[in-house]
Amino acid sequence: MPDAHLPADGTPADAVPRPRAARQRLYVNIDHVATVRQARRGAEPDPVEAALRCEAAGADGITAHLREDRRHVQDADVEGIARRIGTVLNLEMACTAEMLGIALRLAPHQVTLVPERRAEITTEGGLNLAADPDGLERAVAEMKRAGIRVSLFIDPDAQAVRRSAELGADAVELHTGTYAHHPSDPAPLAALDRASALAARLGLAAHAGHGLTVANVGPVAAIPEQEELNIGHSIVSRALFVGLEAAVREIRAAMDAARR
Ligand code: PXP
Repeated sequence: MPDAHLPADGTPADAVPRPRAARQRLYVNIDHVATVRQARRGAEPDPVEAALRCEAAGADGITAHLREDRRHVQDADVEGIARRIGTVLNLEMACTAEMLGIALRLAPHQVTLVPERRAEITTEGGLNLAADPDGLERAVAEMKRAGIRVSLFIDPDAQAVRRSAELGADAVELHTGTYAHHPSDPAPLAALDRASALAARLGLAAHAGHGLTVANVGPVAAIPEQEELNIGHSIVSRALFVGLEAAVREIRAAMDAARR
């Protein structure tokens, strides 16, 4: 979708006002609570209890990635979370018939479609929007018909943002991994900034996540259009030392400080 107000690379002109999301949501990803549980295939720690504690500490939503290989989160976890939380579930999943069926049954507030490769340690890059455009378009439409908000996890580039708008997504979650892994390189943060601005101008909500920590979340949280951050591993890691509630509060405080 061409945008006459923007240069070809999506860079907002200096004169273009930057709308600021009113309250930036923190969605806590509880996958790695399940990772610890799966190390013994037992019952603890319970991701549902973790979700409730995150909410009590101020999380605005809970994110869980039900992977095809069920390496961490299990079906019963997402069912328990969907049933018991008082906030909202953001179900991360691959765009497969099995997962779409689960989403339709659970009816979460939001699905975030992500790429999935069995061999990867974690989600390595954004969706390839060109791989199966018809399938993706049908999936977005099916979720939206069911009243489920759809976010697409993409790399922060203008073409992917434009394509997400064409596909009818409600939101894009921008992959912050390159930024997180190269903290002293200004280019990845500039790309996130440009992609967030472009998303908002095309009517998409701008989300971000992957590799965010108390130490690096500030510059991403400060991007005016950023409405929602999805953060997991650093919170669960920090929880070992300070407890889950304190870990959630620490990252919330870092986000709030960046928006002041
Ligand atoms: N957003 C998406 C789409 C992800 O796949 C992940 C990792 O599961 C995250 C956010 C959270 O990343 P992290 O666990 O590094 O905070």
